[in-house]
Amino acid sequence: MPKSKKMSKGTALVTGGAVRLGKVFSKSLADAGYNLAIHYNSSSDEALQTAQEIRQAGVECEIFQFDLSRSNSIDELITHVYTRFPDLNVLINSASVYDQAMMMDTSVDIFEKQFRVNLMGPYFLTKAFAQQCKAGAVINIIDNKIAFNQYQYSAYLLSKKSLAEFTKLAALELAPHIRVNGLAPGVVLPASVRTQDYIDWRVKGIPVQRQGTTDNITQALHYLLDNDFVCGQILTVDGGESLTNIGQNAANYE
Ligand SMILES: NC(=O)c1ccc[n+]([C@@H]2O[C@H](COP(=O)([O-])OP(=O)(O)OC[C@H]3O[C@@H](n4cnc5c(N)ncnc54)[C@H](OP(=O)(O)O)[C@@H]3O)[C@@H](O)[C@H]2O)c1
Repeated sequence: MPKSKKMSKGTALVTGGAVRLGKVFSKSLADAGYNLAIHYNSSSDEALQTAQEIRQAGVECEIFQFDLSRSNSIDELITHVYTRFPDLNVLINSASVYDQAMMMDTSVDIFEKQFRVNLMGPYFLTKAFAQQCKAGAVINIIDNKIAFNQYQYSAYLLSKKSLAEFTKLAALELAPHIRVNGLAPGVVLPASVRTQDYIDWRVKGIPVQRQGTTDNITQALHYLLDNDFVCGQILTVDGGESLTNIGQNAANYE
């Protein structure tokens, strides 16, 4: 039985919002009273399921398909969402690709995909959001690996480091009406290819000696959204892993 309708705080667009951390962001924003525009690419069943779960929270929710790796008209996604939700005021750029390859193994296709999804997507979505919505908040989901120079993730890491720099440039350009910030998680939901051995090994390099929880990350998300004096910051939530100057146990797992 859906809860009764909540007083809306506006609408949040979460890219990659149907699965994994993106789904956690979507549900947490719905619980906070935002209507939800869930973007997905290939996870259509999961998007429908997530939307159904979110409507149970008593807010409105629609799903929007878009492949960020192919389109040169990324602003169309914002136009579609804004047409349906004219109170769109939050953009969470969470969709991402993560292809592990050192430079010597990086093809133009791998490079282009990392930069299209992880940088061009957030860049042009932020631009279109600013043009159409005029006010609100943008949060770019980055990665604590930006603290290191792990060449094993060459194009991926360059795309995320660029996203961190873009966060600061956009924050300056769009203030005061739109605040842009970044959130850099550490080990929270490892990819399905990661073994328990890998996770145990990785945790040994984390000062607080544990994996992060999704609550640790959503708390940071809400802090960035709710504190309107925070602008252009990258909030790293990783148990201190990025403080170690060599990125101990965060590189290639042999
Ligand atoms: N999980 C962690 O512990 C962790 C740690 C550090 C940083 N992060 C960051 O947190 C964010 C979420 O991570 P995650 O691990 O939950 O996500 P993930 O498993 O990497 O999922 C990727 C998401 O990106 C979307 N996506 C992939 N290719 C796309 C494309 N071509 N066009 C549009 N969307 C596309 C997917 O949509 P579909 O499934 O619909 O195709 C999916 O929702 C990412 O930015 C990631 O870098 C996560």
